[in-house]
Amino acid sequence: MKLTLNQAAQLLKQDDVVAVPTETVYGLAAHIDSLKALKKVFALKGRPADNPLIVHVSSFKQWQSLVKVWPEEQIQALKKFMPGPLTVVLPAKKTKVPYQIRAGLDTVAIRIPKQNDFLSLIRKVGPIAAPSANLSGRPSATQVKHVHHDFGEDFPVVDGGACKAGIESTVIRLVPEGWQLLREGSVSQSKLEKALGSKPLKQDAKSKQKPRTPGQKYKHYSPKARLILAKLSQSRIKKEKVDAILGFSGSSQYGLPFYSLGSIQKPKLALKKLYHMLRQLDLDGHKTVFVTDFKVGDSEELKLLKGRLKKASLKS
Ligand code: TXA
Ligand code: MG
Repeated sequence: MKLTLNQAAQLLKQDDVVAVPTETVYGLAAHIDSLKALKKVFALKGRPADNPLIVHVSSFKQWQSLVKVWPEEQIQALKKFMPGPLTVVLPAKKTKVPYQIRAGLDTVAIRIPKQNDFLSLIRKVGPIAAPSANLSGRPSATQVKHVHHDFGEDFPVVDGGACKAGIESTVIRLVPEGWQLLREGSVSQSKLEKALGSKPLKQDAKSKQKPRTPGQKYKHYSPKARLILAKLSQSRIKKEKVDAILGFSGSSQYGLPFYSLGSIQKPKLALKKLYHMLRQLDLDGHKTVFVTDFKVGDSEELKLLKGRLKKASLKS
């Protein structure tokens, strides 16, 4: 079911959940003050309760009202990426950001999306919590039909067409000593290093604190098909029962159905297509898919693509 912005606003105000377009991937939106809708988001996705949600705001003023600390200098340095696909984790005002959104952490992840319909919706109803609009562990949704595939044809969606980037936001945490990279995404590490003037700090693995990126311990972006990222040969194809190949145009196809990420010269387009292709493999019933190896070189987009493919190939 496709919604107008007014209908979507109405549903959100009535404690319901709707899917919304963003410049990265579709989101499953709930008003931040609606515990009922927040619970529904976790239930619909099958998302573990210890994986916190990103809050989307339409202004810095709104943002400041939700956090306890406002590192003006660091935020100024990052303003060129905002609105946009950069999510920033800061200490939360706990009375303003429900426990469910934070998954019990002291922090909250916030970003200003760069998608006009979504921004209008936030202006109408206030801050919106939204994880990616896919079943937990599966590839994110970058088109309306992906949302409908995961949550049913009747699921209410604001149609924004295909998402511009097709890959999630970068998640960073700002701390007094600098910053941490919690999830690679649309804004590259080198751009952030340049803007903030330092390399990211290592997360302390031995820390007794709760994991700082709870989501990263779970399976991600995975199709049902088994993905193999390794060197391929005819004998291996036989042994592993490979039934399709995913790669850049020009890759060896071994006479199998071939799913193209386009030209390796156009990594942005490949990122935009990635989740659609992973979903298509399942729709076409493939069970074991070989991903053609490619050299990342110094392309940060190719590195990001490879990182997502590696995660998608993990099975637990
Ligand atoms: O592009 C995006 O970021 C999309 C669109 C809809 O905005 N959203 C998205 O949400 O990808 P989700 O829930 O699929 O991923 C959010 C990630 C998870 O890995 C989660 O653990 C992490 O952000 N996260 C959220 N709040 C956090 C917090 N307080 N501290 C550390 N990590 C946090
Ligand atoms: Mg997600």
